[in-house]
This record gives sequence, C-alpha cells and structure tokens, in this order.
Amino acid sequence: MAIPREIVEQILQAARIEEVVSEFVTLKKRGANLIGCCPFHNEKTPSFNVNPARNIFKCFGCGKAGDSAKFLMEHEHLTYPEALRYLAKKYNIKIEEREATAEEIAAQTERERMFNINEFADKYFVDTLWNTEEGKTIGLEYFRERGFLNPIIEQFHLGYSPAKWDAFTEYAKQNGYSDELLEKIGLSIKGNKGLYDRYHGRVMFPIQNLTGKVIGFGGRILVNDPEKKSPKYQNSPESEIYDKKQTLYGIFQARSAIAKLDECILVEGYFDVLRMHQVGIENVVASSGTSLTIEQIRLVKRYTSNITMLYDGDAAGIHAAIRGTDMILAEGMNVRVVVLPPEHDPDTFAKDFPLDYVQNYLKTNAKDFIRFKTELLMKDAENDPIKRGQMVRDIVETISVVPDSIFRISYVKECSRLLDMPEQTLINELNKLLRVKFKKSLGPEGDSVPEVNVVSEKQEEPIEEQLPAGYYQERELVKQLLLYGSKIITDEREEEDGTKILEQLTVAQFIIDDLKMNGFLFKDPINQKIFDIFDRAIDENNFPDNQFFVSNEDAGIANLAADLLSTPYRLDGWKNKGIFVKTEEDVLKINALMSIERYKDLILEERCKQVEEELKTATDEADILILLKQKKNLDVLRTQINRELGIVIAK
Ligand code: UTP
Ligand code: MN
Repeated sequence: MAIPREIVEQILQAARIEEVVSEFVTLKKRGANLIGCCPFHNEKTPSFNVNPARNIFKCFGCGKAGDSAKFLMEHEHLTYPEALRYLAKKYNIKIEEREATAEEIAAQTERERMFNINEFADKYFVDTLWNTEEGKTIGLEYFRERGFLNPIIEQFHLGYSPAKWDAFTEYAKQNGYSDELLEKIGLSIKGNKGLYDRYHGRVMFPIQNLTGKVIGFGGRILVNDPEKKSPKYQNSPESEIYDKKQTLYGIFQARSAIAKLDECILVEGYFDVLRMHQVGIENVVASSGTSLTIEQIRLVKRYTSNITMLYDGDAAGIHAAIRGTDMILAEGMNVRVVVLPPEHDPDTFAKDFPLDYVQNYLKTNAKDFIRFKTELLMKDAENDPIKRGQMVRDIVETISVVPDSIFRISYVKECSRLLDMPEQTLINELNKLLRVKFKKSLGPEGDSVPEVNVVSEKQEEPIEEQLPAGYYQERELVKQLLLYGSKIITDEREEEDGTKILEQLTVAQFIIDDLKMNGFLFKDPINQKIFDIFDRAIDENNFPDNQFFVSNEDAGIANLAADLLSTPYRLDGWKNKGIFVKTEEDVLKINALMSIERYKDLILEERCKQVEEELKTATDEADILILLKQKKNLDVLRTQINRELGIVIAK
C-alpha cells in the first residue's frame, strides 16, 4: 500500500529526531546536540550524536547516520513504509488506509501476517471485554474485583476470550485467516473436533514488543483450579515474531519511565506490572515467570544500567532473585534486590499499602546484590565451617564476574566487613579465580602466561603514622588525576598584553602545570610517583587507564589507586551545593581548581608558621628582614588563593 508523497513529506517534517531516538536510546544534552551510547555498535563512551537542528543522527564510532525513518529502519528492522507508519502514528498523522484486497494479503510476508493476526486478535479480545455481556460480567468483573481501573485496562489492552471453545477461531476464519496461520501463531490449537481457542474462558494480556506491536498473549484462568487440570496461565508458543528470551512484559509501557528514572524494576508476573503502573510506579517490567535471560538484560541496558529486582517474600522468590543475578552483574549493571514481606507479591503489596509507604519500602530495603547474597548465605552458614568456606567461594565467584576492577575492589571491601574477614583473604581467593578465568580466556596456550595480579596483594598492614601536612589534599589531587586526568577542559588564560585566550588542556595538565610552576612537590612518595606518571603521560600524550594503576606492580600505587577509585565523585555534586555549573567540564575544572588552591593554602600556611617560629628566635637584623619579606610574600600568595577560592565559590 503506497503512502501518498505529500503525506510522506508531512510525516518526515513532523518527526523530531531527538524524540524518535530517545524512545530507544538514553540521550544527554551536549551543547546544541544530544549524545548517547550508539545502539548499533557496542561502546562504552558515547559517540552517538543527535542533531535536532538538522534533524539527523550520526554515530562517530560506526558511521551510521540518517533521519528518523532511517533510524527506525535500522534499529527496529522496519521497512520504509513501516517506519513511516510508526512515525505517522506517533505524530497523529492520518494515512488513508483502505481494506487490503485478497491479493495484497497473499503478498504479505509471513512476519507481517503474524503481526496482523495478533493485532486482529487483540482488538477482538478487547472488544469482547468491553462490549459483550459475557465479557463485561465475567472478564471485566474479574479485573474490577482485583481492583483494576479503566485507564490501566485500556493502556495494557487487557481483554477477554469467551468460554465457547472456538469462538475466536470461528471469527478469525470468517475474516479470512487460515487454519495454518492460526495454529502457527498459537491462537488456536488443533484437536479431535478441529481447531479450538487456546485461551477460551480466560482474561487476556497481549504481550507487546518495544514498538507496541503485539507479539504474543498470556491468558489467565478465572477460577483457581486446585486440581491444576489446566495451568493458571496459558501463553503463546514461540514464533517468528515471539522470542520469549528477548521479551519483557510491559517494556513498551515502561521504557520511557525507565530511561527517565534511570532505573528498571523487575518483577515476575503480569499482575505485578499492572498494579505498579496503576499506583504510579511505571518503570516496571516482568520476566513472566521464566528465569531471566541475557537478552532481556540487554534490552533493559538500552535504557539504564540500574536494575532493582523486586521479589516475593517467600523462599521461592528469594531463590529466583539469586538465580539471574550473576548474569546481570557480568553485563556491568548495578543490581539491587528488594525482598517483600512474607505472603506478599508486588501486586498485593502495592495494593494493600499507600504509595508513599511502598516507595519508601523500596528505597530503604533495596540492597546491593553482593550484600544481599552475602547476608543471605551467612544466615545459612552461620556455625558451619564447611558451609562457610563454600559461601566465601560462592561470593567471591560472584564478585569475579563484575567486569570493572574498581567495583570489584569496593565489593571486596564491603564483603570483608560483612563477613568479618581480612580483605586480603578475599583478595587472594579472588585473584585465584581471576587467574583461572584469565588463563581460560587465552585458550590452550594460557598455561605459559605469567600470573596476573588483578588486585595487588598487600605486603603488610600499614602502620598508623603521623601524616604530613596536606596529605589529604595531596590525595585529593591524586584522585582527580586518576579519575579525570585525561579529560579535556577549556581554560581561560590572560596573555601579557591583557588579551584573553581560550586553551584546551587535560585535567592532568591543568593540575600539574600549576603545581610545578609554583614549585610544589608532593610529600608522600606514592602520591609523588603517581604525579610523575601523569607528568610523563602529558609529555607523551598517552594516559594509562585505571587498570594500570589498580594492577600496578608497585603495591603502594595499586592500593592507593584501588582506594581512591572505589569512591568516585558525583559530578553533579555542585548542584546540591547551589553552585551553578553548566557542563561536566565546568565541574571538572572547578573541582581541580579548588583542590589545587586548598592544597597550596595548606602548604603555605605551614610555611607561614615556620617563618613565624623562626622570627620569634631570630636575632640577626639581616635574618629578620629576610624572614619578614618571606612572610609578606606568603601572605600575598595566601590572599590570592583565598580570593581564588572565593571567586570559584561565588561563580
Ligand atoms: P504467579 O503465579 O506469581 O502469577 O506467576 P501472578 O502474576 O502473581 O498472577 P496472580 O496474581 O496469581 O493472578 C508469575 C508469572 O509466571 C508466569 C506468568 O507470567 C505469571 O505472571 N506463569 C505462572 C505462567 O506462565 N504460567 C503459569 O501457570 C503460572
Ligand atoms: Mn500475584
């Protein structure tokens, strides 16, 4: 079916690239453009660019580029007319549709025919629910009794399939759908007396894909059947358009909330999703009873790295929580677990308690997964040394799947606290596992490879000693070097003739040049070593990554780096302090500047004190004069610094 030219133009003009893309990719503002992680290739640093002014996208990583229609074709594997229809629907543009002729139906591809019959069935079940006597008194009444209101019933296209054994099948056949297709898509089943309805006498849940197309159904029996002659839920079999392991119930309705809130709440059942939406918690999807798959996790990962698993308070629920999780961790996602009070599932919990109570419960009971697992296993193993050994291995195994070494280290720290066990014991265990994994990843030749220390082993416990003045300020600067040393910022510099020029430089350059120019040297030798590494990196324009420091052969460097890197900054921290900063770059600059000045201030204060002490005992007139001069210079410098700090704060 062709779409008239002028309508195509109208659609493409109405489509805003940033609106279309942001349904699938989380975008952040970057100047006039928006950026995000490219959905077409695997990347960690965003190079996917959306340009609202030109109404196009472009990935500087893989080179894919185009307009809204192109994006949908690539991303959703739509044909050009399908992409246009999608956009027309989104922007409320009417396309003249006429009934398809028999010929056209025959020409449709198999997939299209499947989508088509599902849409047809969806309409039928919804219509039956709202507009037939049986639908209203049985189906609608069922939802009502469970406390569901019209908006949710409508939003999720809930429906009803009549009790008569072949009501839907007959209706579909009358409308030209073949037995073969009905059976293949699973709406009908072949029995002795012919085709009959898979879902007869059930309330219906259409399962939608990311773009809202119906790919399958679930149907719930109306009376609980204690003999379990038929299962509580009937679900569609898999088909060319329904791949269970790739599907999350509710993703279509939840995805924008997931992206906005940067969190996805994972539940088990259809009704859990419905209830949470109804009470106003919309970033919720269900794995629908099956255990979580890697594909489902990647689906969520398009929108957020934060998953909160919300599980029933019974043993089965807790078991389910543990099952999927190593997999989520291995994808580099942050996983938290909330266990509900016994006897509750998310549906009943959100129904029985007011919204603020539910939200507060989620907030206060969400436990980091490693912590959750550790505490759970600890209960099991309490006084049993064999179980305890197993438990430690189990927990370390979980930690070992976390791809980011910095997170691994902070987990080790936390578990050492929880288990009341020396960090070093866990580190040794972790290193053993990681070596095995590392060797395995190298294949058969792996044996000849030297051992890698993924976390550096401490030589001995450090002795508490008197720390030199400015030690923490030094560390603060080292932390900024480690975290942001290679990031580019723009600095304003004044030339001798007073003209101002803008200069691009790295954070490391910014910090190190300033300190070197003023003759500051770090007092702590490890701090100074890291300083020197960055100093060299600037010259060579080649910055080592975090792994280099964390796994450094110098145990002092490795430990300090692990420590400093395990508590990154919140870059938006300044906002909370009421300071207005526009970009991440501003924040980096202010952080660096503040740290430099604070550090200098401390060192100068120390020098001032020294001079004052010397003045007290000095007797030689020439000495006194020199000391007084020094003191004056120091005071001038300190005033300057304080002004600088003041300016930064007032900015
Ligand atoms: P539950 O038994 O927890 O169902 O199964 P539920 O969603 O809480 O439903 P109600 O409240 O009893 O009505 C969780 C999920 O497991 C799948 C469904 O997706 C269900 O939502 N399931 C369960 C099936 O597919 N078949 C079954 O027979 C049972
Ligand atoms: Mn339930």
